[in-house]
Amino acid sequence: MSDQIKSVRGMPAILPGEVKKWQFVEAVAKNVLHAYSYNEIRTPVVERSELFQRTIGENTDIVAKEMYTFIDRNDQSLSLRPEATAGIIRAGIDQGFFYNQTQKLWSIGPMYRYERPQKGRYRQFHQINMEAFGFPGPDIDFEMILLTGRIWKALNLSPLQLELNSLGSPESRKEYKRQLQDYFHDHQKELDEDSLRRLDRNPLRILDSKNPDLQEIIESAPKMVDFLDQESNEHFEELMAMLQDHAIEYSLNTRLVRGLDYYTRTVFEWTTDQLGAQATVCGGGRYDALVAELGGKPTSAIGCAIGLERLIELVDVSGQNEQNNPSKIYIVAVGSKAEGERFLLAEELRDAYPNLSIEMNLNGGHFKQQFKRADKAGADIALILGDDEISKQTVGVKPMRSEGHQETVDRKELLSIIDQFL
Ligand code: HAM
Repeated sequence: MSDQIKSVRGMPAILPGEVKKWQFVEAVAKNVLHAYSYNEIRTPVVERSELFQRTIGENTDIVAKEMYTFIDRNDQSLSLRPEATAGIIRAGIDQGFFYNQTQKLWSIGPMYRYERPQKGRYRQFHQINMEAFGFPGPDIDFEMILLTGRIWKALNLSPLQLELNSLGSPESRKEYKRQLQDYFHDHQKELDEDSLRRLDRNPLRILDSKNPDLQEIIESAPKMVDFLDQESNEHFEELMAMLQDHAIEYSLNTRLVRGLDYYTRTVFEWTTDQLGAQATVCGGGRYDALVAELGGKPTSAIGCAIGLERLIELVDVSGQNEQNNPSKIYIVAVGSKAEGERFLLAEELRDAYPNLSIEMNLNGGHFKQQFKRADKAGADIALILGDDEISKQTVGVKPMRSEGHQETVDRKELLSIIDQFL
């Protein structure tokens, strides 16, 4: 026998038992997105590598170290998407659906990053993504915070913390970057290897460092909020005023810079203290310059992505993941005539009750074995077909989850009897 083939590290399957939880969480999120007038978009999992290099940024960890990149048969460099935003913008420019209009789009699907796998961090993971195009004001920033907050509420999560920062305009950020570089150059001797590597290319990411030895230097570093251009500053002030007016708690985190280069102005993250190191459940912000940088007309934009593995872990923790299973009917059939009849009965039930799960015994077996299988399958009702029932045009009905006894009913009355059970 050949060796067993292992899964790819960091890419676990989601098994049937867990999928129910996923479907429940996805359904809640989709309802909320619908309530805020977002439309679904589905973009490819594979894009040209250049798209991610130009959007997420060459010097980010994602592009420099984590992409799954390959050359296709036509010598093109392609990558599995590490995030959804770039592909959505690419599709929007291709199809011209940003021009002179607003768009609210959401999508869901797997993303790929070659990260060090651990709890809450995988190489294939899933995001629900939302993007709003053509809304320059802070009202959409606020609405997106309300939307995500409503998802947490609908899932009955214990409160998440909202962290907020502004990264200003590309120009004001450039000036900030220079100041930050000067500051960290002055402290070069105290920096660790990681930070030294980031110093020239991506000094903002030093602010993200978790190294305890660096915390004091980072705390005293110049802050982006002090470098904001006037318009960005007004935008940010207005957003904070809206949050305060609606009594939505947030904390200003001047070290929040995000791991992708495309952000301008508002950035935000929802974090939790219940997931250990991988604390960010949702992150995003504005990227007002990106559509034009990719060749589209200047288009204001904001978006965020929810990490589904992390969100689902939280729903688990709060102990209310269970969606009510649709009821299940299991058909027990013994004897050659009954085995023929079971298909007719099953199809008739599937016509009559499209929302029920109808399972019939396969693999043969005697009555006792089949009842055991019905029980294991979680059936609410077992329907019994044997030689006797076939000859008398009846069906046995046995409640599996309640005390009731087995009855024999006329085949013609079966549906009305099942109705009574439901
Ligand atoms: P991100 O911060 O890279 O942003 O990812 C968003 C969320 O995806 C994270 O907060 C986390 O919950 C989840 N996530 C990221 N990497 C992993 C991983 N390796 N394993 C499990 N979960 C993970 C973006 O991707 C941006 N595209 C968000 C955005 C949309 N900004 C504007 N529009």
